[in-house]
Formats: sequence, structure tokens, C-alpha cells
Amino acid sequence: MKKKALIFGVTGQDGSYLSEILLKKGYVVHGVKRRSSSINTQRVDHIYQDPHEIKRNFILHYGDITDSTVVSKIIKEISPDEIYNLAAQSHVAVSFEVPEYTANADALGALRILEAIRFHKLAKKTKFYQAGTSEMFGKIREKIQNENTPFNPISPYGVAKQYAHWITINYRKAYGIFASNGILFNHESPRRGETFVTKKIVAALCKIKLKKQKTLFLGNLYAKRDWGHAKDYCEAMWKILQHKKPDDFVIATGKQYSIKEFIEIVSSQLNMKIQWRGKGINEKGYHDGKPIIACDKKYFRPLDVEDLIGNASKAAKILKWKPKINLKQLVKEMIQYEMDLN
Ligand code: NAP
Ligand code: GDD
Repeated sequence: MKKKALIFGVTGQDGSYLSEILLKKGYVVHGVKRRSSSINTQRVDHIYQDPHEIKRNFILHYGDITDSTVVSKIIKEISPDEIYNLAAQSHVAVSFEVPEYTANADALGALRILEAIRFHKLAKKTKFYQAGTSEMFGKIREKIQNENTPFNPISPYGVAKQYAHWITINYRKAYGIFASNGILFNHESPRRGETFVTKKIVAALCKIKLKKQKTLFLGNLYAKRDWGHAKDYCEAMWKILQHKKPDDFVIATGKQYSIKEFIEIVSSQLNMKIQWRGKGINEKGYHDGKPIIACDKKYFRPLDVEDLIGNASKAAKILKWKPKINLKQLVKEMIQYEMDLN
């Protein structure tokens, strides 16, 4: 019998890579997608339309993580071996605009799944993965963050995800559910949503190179992140659920770059030299004497996480997980993808 996986958030960046990984490993993959007025399945259409996968191994269901009835019904009907909760309002800046919805989806969403596992007496059968985040470290309390670093979230998104983290541990301890948290640092890919900073920078600089765009507007250029490739991180999610006991793992590369350094890596791969002039909101990046990068107040957040870098040595030791794709390779792949689109 093939193992059955259920992915909430299947249409997202990670949902699409995780589906590919699980199908390759021989799973039947069920995914939950939302009804939308425009098509929202582009990231998984290549799987859905593959004649080998269609109807047999890759099955999509309509549902919403804020709807307990449908969450419960889908889990009962499928009775999956593994559930991956990737569904979330995942944009930190947007969480300041829609804090209540973010809490409903990102915090209570995890609870709804865990309750359904418990209620349908699947505690001994169904393993649960919660998509936790380095954003929970917020205003950092340790220079390099690991599983023991105290959380200090500073966004509605980070606070909601912290609830999901703790309720996952609570259901593990109270009901013996195999429920694990990944604490994943930023991970990117050509499939990254357009409004996240790496994708926005790569897409805009490619267009500027091709003379299809004049200026890229950004917010805080000095925030630092630890960026990996989504494909590597989705492999880690699977490994977390294959470990002999439920546990929590930091997944990161251990390398850190500022937004400005990221811009320089992209521009150097595009052979575009950038010179920086000005300070604060007036800082600009010039190429061939023209200002191609500028700051706009609207891209600054009420509070911003300035400094993230993870230590994934627990995952390396216990799960034998290590990132395979470095930042330069990631950027190369993202540039190639954008150039092919243009
Ligand atoms: P993403 O591209 O934004 O995907 C989010 C997924 O959740 C999409 O499929 C989205 O559906 C779905 N979703 C949103 N609200 C929903 C709702 N109410 N009901 C059902 N589905 C809903 O995010 P991602 O980058 O793949 O990240 C996956 C998960 O990991 C998220 O929980 C995110 O918070 C977390 N995470 C991400 C990172 C990262 O750097 N990427 C790091 C740490 C943790 P639509 O396609 O219809 O919008
Ligand atoms: N999005 C965006 N747009 N961010 C910008 C911009 C801009 O124009 N200009 C500067 N930034 C800065 C943000 O202020 C932030 O400090 C940094 O770039 C990264 O922003 P995002 O790419 O939006 O990612 P994030 O770190 O806030 O959140 C992502 O990573 C988390 C893991 O730490 C998301 O994927 C979250 O879902 C994830 O949990």
C-alpha cells in the first residue's frame, strides 16, 4: 500500500516542491487548494497535468484552513499517514494589515488540523508537520539561532506562528500525536511569490537589464537573512516526519547576507555594476549613471526583523540533512527562470 500524504497549502512555493518530492518517493499526495476567482494552481499544474499522476497519485480537494468543518471532513475521508501544514498567510508585511485573518489562518489553522487528528482517533496513525519559521525569533535574543533560542516575535505573523508551534508541542505531549515543528529560515526559488524580496529583486533587475523596467523600489536594505533553496528545505520537512520520534528542528544554511548584498550578488551575475549613493530613505543604487534602485516608505514595516542566521547542526546530526544548493546557485536559477519569461 502506498503511503498517503495530505498537504495544506499545496499551491504555494513549498507545497509544489514537497508534492514533487513525495510523488517521487512513491506517495499518493492529496492537496488542499482554495477556491479563487483566478487560477491559483500554476505551481502544481505541471504535476496535475502529467498523465502518470493525474487522478491516481495527485489529488486536489477544495478547502480552507479557516474552515474547521472542511478540514475535519478531508482528514477523516483521507485518513492520511502524514499531514504537512504549509497553509498560511505567509507575508510578514501583510500580517500588519490583516492581523486577525493571519491569526485565524496561521495560528488556529494548526489547531484545527490537530483537533481533527485527535477527534477522528488518528493519533496513532497520522504524523503532523507544522511549518514554523525563523520569524518567531523576531528581535533576536541570541546572535545565531537554534532550537533553544527563546522566541521574541515582532509581527502578527510571527506571533501567530508561535501559537502554532506551541500547540503542536502541546498535542504531541497531551495526546501522543507524532507532531513536529520545522523552524525554517527563509527559503526561495523561481516559484517564490512575487512580493517577497528575493523574487522582487531578481525579477526587477532582469527587467531593468532588458530595458523593460526603469526602477526597483524597496524598503529596508539593511535587514539580514539566511536564505536557502525551497527544494532543500522541503526535503527536510519529509525527513523530520521520518525521524523515529517527533521533535523540533531548525533548518537553515548558517550563512547571512543583507538585502543590499543580495542585490549585489544578483547584479554581478547580470554584469550590472551598482554604485550606492545617499543615506536612509534617500539611498539609491545607480547603474550606468541612472538610479535603478530607490527606497519607498510603503515597503518599510512598522517593526522589522533585522538579523536572522540559523544553526541547523541538530538537523545535520540527527536527520543527516544539509543544504545542497548555495545562494549563488539559487540566484543563478532564479535569474534563468526570469530571463526565460521575458
Ligand atoms: P506561500 O507560497 O505563500 O504558500 C502558502 C500556501 O498556503 C498557498 O498554497 C496558499 O494558497 C495557502 N493558503 C493561504 N491561506 C490559506 C487558507 N486560508 N486556507 C488554505 N490554504 C491557504 O508560502 P511558502 O513560502 O510556500 O511557505 C509555506 C509555509 O511555510 C507557510 O506556512 C509559511 O508561513 C512557512 N514558512 C515559509 C518560509 C519561507 O521562507 N518560504 C520560511 C518559514 C516558514 P493560495 O495559493 O490560494 O494563496
Ligand atoms: N517583501 C519585501 N519587499 N521585503 C523587503 C522589501 C520589499 O520591497 N524591501 C526590503 N525588504 C526586507 C524586509 O523588510 C525584510 O526585512 C526582508 O527584506 C525579507 O523580507 P521578505 O522577503 O518579505 O521575507 P520575510 O523574512 O519577511 O519573511 C519570509 O521569511 C520568513 C522566515 O523567516 C516569509 O517567507 C515568511 O513566510 C517566512 O516565515
